[in-house]
Amino acid sequence: MTFKAPRGTKDIFGEDIFLWRKVEDILRNVCEKFRVFEIRTPVFEQTELFQRGVGETTDIVTKEMYTLEKKGSESVTLKPEGTAGAARAFVENSMYADPQPTKLYYITPAFRYERPQAGRQRQFHQFGVEIFGSYDASCDAEAISIAYEVLNQIGIKNIELKINSLGGNECRKKYNKTLKEFIGSNIERLCDDCKERFEKNPLRVLDCKNENCKKVIDDAPSVIESLDEECLAHFEALKKNLDNMGIPYIVDSKIVRGLDYYTRTVFEFVSNEIGSQGTVCGGGRYDNLIGECGGPKTGAVGFAMGLERIMMLVKSQGLIETKGKDVDIYIGSIGDEGFLKAQAVGFELRKSGICVEYDTLKRSVKAQLKYANKINAKFSVVIGENEIKTDCVNLKNMTESKQEEIKLSSLKEELFKRLGSASEN
Ligand code: HAM
Repeated sequence: MTFKAPRGTKDIFGEDIFLWRKVEDILRNVCEKFRVFEIRTPVFEQTELFQRGVGETTDIVTKEMYTLEKKGSESVTLKPEGTAGAARAFVENSMYADPQPTKLYYITPAFRYERPQAGRQRQFHQFGVEIFGSYDASCDAEAISIAYEVLNQIGIKNIELKINSLGGNECRKKYNKTLKEFIGSNIERLCDDCKERFEKNPLRVLDCKNENCKKVIDDAPSVIESLDEECLAHFEALKKNLDNMGIPYIVDSKIVRGLDYYTRTVFEFVSNEIGSQGTVCGGGRYDNLIGECGGPKTGAVGFAMGLERIMMLVKSQGLIETKGKDVDIYIGSIGDEGFLKAQAVGFELRKSGICVEYDTLKRSVKAQLKYANKINAKFSVVIGENEIKTDCVNLKNMTESKQEEIKLSSLKEELFKRLGSASEN
């Protein structure tokens, strides 16, 4: 019997792990500069949290949730995104009582039952930031500036920031009416799903992926025209803040996002270098969600980046060297006594921070040294009975093919002298 990873999932290993860790280091470092603190929430939550938070009429809730077979009394679902869990945690842990804003970030797997393709998986990973406690447009700009700086620090090129405003509850009602009139007069050209969306939540028609529907949507009225004075001013303030930080953007009134919780600002960072799934980051303001989760009315804004899509760009744009840490020393051994010494010395060196490899396959000395070459060992020694008796080994510099006789008992000191700070990298 052989097994395969489930469809839409991937193993991450080898050199890719090196890339992922480098990117994660960048995310964490940038968050530190912006005083954004990590939060780790459960991988599953009460199903109702996503139904109410993400929205009953969204594709995520209607088609894509991994809801687990009931164990006990509550229905739970693997998180399809990170915002709802972070909002629930903000309320449950009374973070609103802390000095505001509360700035949180997460790096988490997320699960959506979607048709897998390049850049779209059923288990994927998100880096997300959520800022709670402010209604001001400067906070939207701060969230966007974090995403912008992350992409900049990774070195990603040719990415476009698109922004839009969906307005507050009243503007949304007004826009829904205008949109319904427009969709109503084109209803026959839409897919069956959209016909249903038209009844329940016309805004969702705007993110339909069906080609025919997309053609209809192209002529849909702009949401910006339905904004009231206050929401327009908020959007203008956001633009002013972005200009002030030198963050380029384009206004795209077709950006509506696929989740129901957004109010006012929505934004996406889009690349055209990774195929049809080019949105590497999406986010926006969601001022009603904390209230929906039973907390006090609280302004909130955030975003999430798809890390698989980021990795596609890191690789295609050749942004990070994949070479892992070289082995500092390979300790070869002859015979049982030689092996025991190699193991004891190796363990001591490893405890001192030196990267050591030795033979655990009982290979010949020749095969051991061939392996030492393959794994890019910087130095090598071979320990046998004789070396133990005389306390003397040949320390070979593998890159320069030079040998020096040194005392086995001072191998650590000799290595430190030669490795310098190299072993700390
Ligand atoms: P989202 O647009 O659904 O927003 O997802 C954010 C990002 O996750 C997408 O832009 C994409 O890069 C990545 N992503 C989504 N689905 C998949 C998939 N099936 N495979 C690979 N990558 C995927 C949210 O999730 C919101 N929670 C963002 C947010 C945070 N809004 C406010 N705060």
